[in-house]
Amino acid sequence: MAGLIPQRFIDDLLSRVDIVDVVDSRVKLRKTGKNYSGLCPFHQEKSPSFTVQPEKQFYYCFGCGAGGNAIGFVMNYENMDYPDAIELLAKDIGLEVPREESSPQARKEKSRHEALLELLEGINNWYQMQLRKHPGRESAVTYLKSRGLSGEIARDFGLGYAPAGWSNLLEAFGINEEEKRKLLDTGMLIENPDNKRNPLYDRFRDRIMYPIRDQRGRVIGFGGRVLGNDKPKYLNSPETLVFRKGEELYGLYEAKKKLRKIDRFLIVEGYMDVIALAQNGIHYSVATLGTATSANHLRILFKSTPEVVFCFDGDNAGREAAWRALQQCLPLLEDGRSARFLFLPEGQDPDTQVRTIGAKAFEASLEIATRLPDFFFDTLTARIDMNSFEGKARLGKIALPLIEKLPKGIFRQLMLDELSRRTGLENAALAHNGQESRPDLPPAPPPAYSHSVPGRPKQPPIRSEWTPCMKAVNLLIRKPSLIKQVNVDDGLGEIRSPDMDLLLKVIELARAWPDSTTTDFMGRIYATAYGSQLTQLLTREQITPEEGIEKEFQEILDKLLKAYRQRQQKTELLSKLRQHHADINEIPDQHHES
Ligand code: UTP
Ligand code: MN
Repeated sequence: MAGLIPQRFIDDLLSRVDIVDVVDSRVKLRKTGKNYSGLCPFHQEKSPSFTVQPEKQFYYCFGCGAGGNAIGFVMNYENMDYPDAIELLAKDIGLEVPREESSPQARKEKSRHEALLELLEGINNWYQMQLRKHPGRESAVTYLKSRGLSGEIARDFGLGYAPAGWSNLLEAFGINEEEKRKLLDTGMLIENPDNKRNPLYDRFRDRIMYPIRDQRGRVIGFGGRVLGNDKPKYLNSPETLVFRKGEELYGLYEAKKKLRKIDRFLIVEGYMDVIALAQNGIHYSVATLGTATSANHLRILFKSTPEVVFCFDGDNAGREAAWRALQQCLPLLEDGRSARFLFLPEGQDPDTQVRTIGAKAFEASLEIATRLPDFFFDTLTARIDMNSFEGKARLGKIALPLIEKLPKGIFRQLMLDELSRRTGLENAALAHNGQESRPDLPPAPPPAYSHSVPGRPKQPPIRSEWTPCMKAVNLLIRKPSLIKQVNVDDGLGEIRSPDMDLLLKVIELARAWPDSTTTDFMGRIYATAYGSQLTQLLTREQITPEEGIEKEFQEILDKLLKAYRQRQQKTELLSKLRQHHADINEIPDQHHES
């Protein structure tokens, strides 16, 4: 049983590993003087602000403030806890990690946890063995075959068989009181003192067993399915010390084991769906364990993929479940992430669907599954008369608080744009009439107006150039060649804002490759640091007809410049006014001698 790692070992380890090697094998570093630098792996950046200092055996990012020693780096980078990071570092240099006895209390808790996991592992092996050896195995094997599962898939998912009878586990594992207690704590036994003959009995009897594994592959619980039509069809382990349903996803470990890179996760409902999809070569599905998809689940999935596709029944209940899933998603949809919704024909689940139409057609249906923005607006407008003012107002009232759950970024802005298109209200007006002011606007530009000018005019809406910029980017991505027909005034380069930076970058790329197709062009942008901002951009409904693109693009550029120039003029005028004001009041300027 693993105890505490002695501090002297940790000191020794740190003196032997070189943080430069540790970091360099994960993040590309360049020598800059006596230190090294690179792009920070802990936040998005375009130019390196991440440094490694060999002298201090320390890393630090000037951009996001992350910093620490080699162990901290591994913990952060590999998403590991402290002991695991030490194990990993030690292994790299061929050291065995010694353990010392920990405090009795900590040891007890830890060992309890580990004892249960160990028991579950043993039970899992035992169930698998019953599927191969038990005299009553025939019906189970026939059942699995009838569902089209190969031996290989049964092995990958560790499928097993719990034989009929009330005390199989009890006899195989419950050799003494202590072991019986453990069986109870894993949820594998049920205790019922009223039942005189069997006060303790096996929870799972005559069922196909699906081990539920955590992300590290440890068995933490089971699902069990009847072989026929008895009820309940599925039984699941209860929540225990080692099994928390809201944090686990069936199939996640198997998916990650099978695939090196996961472009998307498909979220389905059932154990059998996950397995049947895998049987058909679709290895990226996961199921929640009889609970709705939680934000927790989504957070876990988005760690390994940019896209999730929810799979639901096409009926009303399915659409309602999809709407709940959408709401869980919103706060997590940073730029670069996306969610889609696949609605299956009534009466089908992913298992039957993939068998009916085949893996290829099934995957094709994922490609064109409903995007979140479409599902969002279609659902909200379905029962609203969008031709009336009242309807538009209602849409604004319902949609705005939801859109405001999105993290700030381009996607959110595009959703706001879409809302303003549908309601006919400007973004600013929407925000103004929404719940409250928008708390998460990007930082305002340095004040252009003096505080001492009486009756100063209202400041123009902050970052009014956002929307046009994104629109211009969007148009240019649709048709990079339009850069040849429009006049880009150099003055645009003076406008400083993140969205303007993006537009300028895209203009630069379009100039370099005006004949790219949209897809190629996206590829070029993805090759830059701006790539992650773009994923969602093309989801926007295209309302400019093809022949109007140049004109609209030119108009946007002209407007941006004009608005900028006007702001400049106002600023100058105001500073003159202020100067004048100061002069006539003879207020001495503190910073200068009067
Ligand atoms: P389904 O009935 O859709 O399961 O329930 P399924 O996977 O399609 O089942 P079969 O094997 O193809 O007939 C979906 C999920 O709901 C939970 C299980 O997690 C199941 O996978 N469930 C269902 C239960 O927990 N208990 C039940 O009695 C039924
Ligand atoms: Mn099914």
